[in-house]
Amino acid sequence: MIQIKNLDFSHGDEKVLNNINIDIEKNTTCAIIGPSGCGKTTLLYLLAGLLSINRGEILINGEEWNNCRRETGVILQNYGLLPWKTVWNNVSLGLKVRGLSKKEIEYKVSSILNELKITDLKDKYPTQLSGGQKQRVAIARTLVTNPDLLLLDEATSALDAMTKEHIQNLILDVYKKRSMTLVFVTHSIEEAVFLGQKIIIMEKTKIKKVIDNPYFGAEELRKKIDYYNLCLEVRKWLEDGESQ
Ligand SMILES: Nc1ncnc2c1ncn2[C@@H]1O[C@H](COP(=O)(O)OP(=O)(O)OP(=O)(O)O)[C@@H](O)[C@H]1O
Ligand SMILES: [Mg+2]
Repeated sequence: MIQIKNLDFSHGDEKVLNNINIDIEKNTTCAIIGPSGCGKTTLLYLLAGLLSINRGEILINGEEWNNCRRETGVILQNYGLLPWKTVWNNVSLGLKVRGLSKKEIEYKVSSILNELKITDLKDKYPTQLSGGQKQRVAIARTLVTNPDLLLLDEATSALDAMTKEHIQNLILDVYKKRSMTLVFVTHSIEEAVFLGQKIIIMEKTKIKKVIDNPYFGAEELRKKIDYYNLCLEVRKWLEDGESQ
């Protein structure tokens, strides 16, 4: 369970987040959507402990956090892969840092590469991969450490439409197989409604609306009219006030 209480954050004189309050149940998913510059990435960085809170608090499973947490996995927009390491070595890095034995590392890395269908890429370097492949490797690298909270910033925004859907399906798949809370930032209404059990719509510095998504995880969701109706509702909230 994540509780964000009365959270404020400023970059210098600029107030970026103003009195944010959010509750996210354990093992659920939450989308954060809103116009460019409204503070989504900042909020995710605060949740990841990559920035320090000015006022208010973030509780994860009842414990207050204001720095990095071992069980939190973060995937930032640029994938964060090390260009001089192969896919295998990028994915195994977090386990090496945690001091696992060679045998455990071999087992965990080969399992996750297999699950994400990237075993054949294991000896390649990041520059030899497509955007979708890089994103799979970034996801593998984070999931291999078994996080209980996964934070994603614009995981699919650099990908073409079909690859986007594949990665969204993959994220849903890996989420369903694990006990994990997923919080993700997106610009895409479709992605927010496909992957978000709770959809948080932001405006500059603030939360504008929280929508619970009853259709989350439904079979063939993208072929259902309810899905498009909810997309329209999110769009309405995003556009409402744009002219103000
Ligand atoms: N390192 C920084 N120093 C100063 N100001 C910053 C910094 N990072 C972000 N900001 C400012 O904070 C505000 C929120 O930025 P943030 O990156 O959180 O927005 P965002 O909602 O993620 O936008 P986008 O959708 O474009 O990624 C913006 O006005 C931005 O200019
Ligand atoms: Mg951002």
